[in-house]
Amino acid sequence: MTSTRTPLIAGNWKMHKTVAESESLVRDIINGDRRKDVDVLVAPPFTSLHAVARLVDTSDVGLAAQNMHWEKQGAYTGEVSPLMLADLGVEFVILGHSERRHIFGEKDEGINRKVISALAHGLKPILCVGETLEERRAEKIYGVLEAQLLGGLSGLQPDETARVTIAYEPVWAIGTGHTATPDQAQAVHRLIRRQLIDLSLCNKDLANRVRILYGGSVKASNATEIMAQPDVDGVLVGGASLSAGEFLGIINF
Ligand code: 13P
Repeated sequence: MTSTRTPLIAGNWKMHKTVAESESLVRDIINGDRRKDVDVLVAPPFTSLHAVARLVDTSDVGLAAQNMHWEKQGAYTGEVSPLMLADLGVEFVILGHSERRHIFGEKDEGINRKVISALAHGLKPILCVGETLEERRAEKIYGVLEAQLLGGLSGLQPDETARVTIAYEPVWAIGTGHTATPDQAQAVHRLIRRQLIDLSLCNKDLANRVRILYGGSVKASNATEIMAQPDVDGVLVGGASLSAGEFLGIINF
């Protein structure tokens, strides 16, 4: 299958970087020596979004938030709304990250509300899915992904589903140094594209347009072989996105 999907290299900074550190890192990425045929985006912590938004504004680097609430405003202490993100010029929002699911107890139903709300506010959701090691060993990958895709994308029109980026992040590969092999990543990415069709979430043409990112211990040294897989359309990078040199190395895979 020839892909018309522009690769997307995304850096999820998680709970790292002060404002000054964020500005310095994003400047190095913006001004770094990097190929221009891929989309690049960074997801700083909320406290740095405004400062980073100003710097990426006149560049080709995109901006993402790491989470959001589904309501546009209200009595939700500690939460950040899609309206607030859109106001800053945020373009993408990571939703259902495994750390949100496993540490903070987020469930598919709430993640689905966020996906719907993000789209309604003109934000592009990056929906994270992925199995734990136990689930992989018990050969439950199909069912886990089916539940996460059906749950997360419930109620969306097919053309809305096609506007969602999926990030396959096997939980056992996140922050562990154990990257999925290129074959393992390709097998699951292919499965996810197949499931989008089989679960009637969208048709084949639309499924072929959905970008599916791989996340989990991606580094400059393994990005090339992962990106070479036909159904891998980009990477969502955690630890290695905190250093400009390493992240630029991934961008230039
Ligand atoms: P690491 O690259 O640190 O394994 O994190 C991956 C991730 O969770 C990106 O969202």
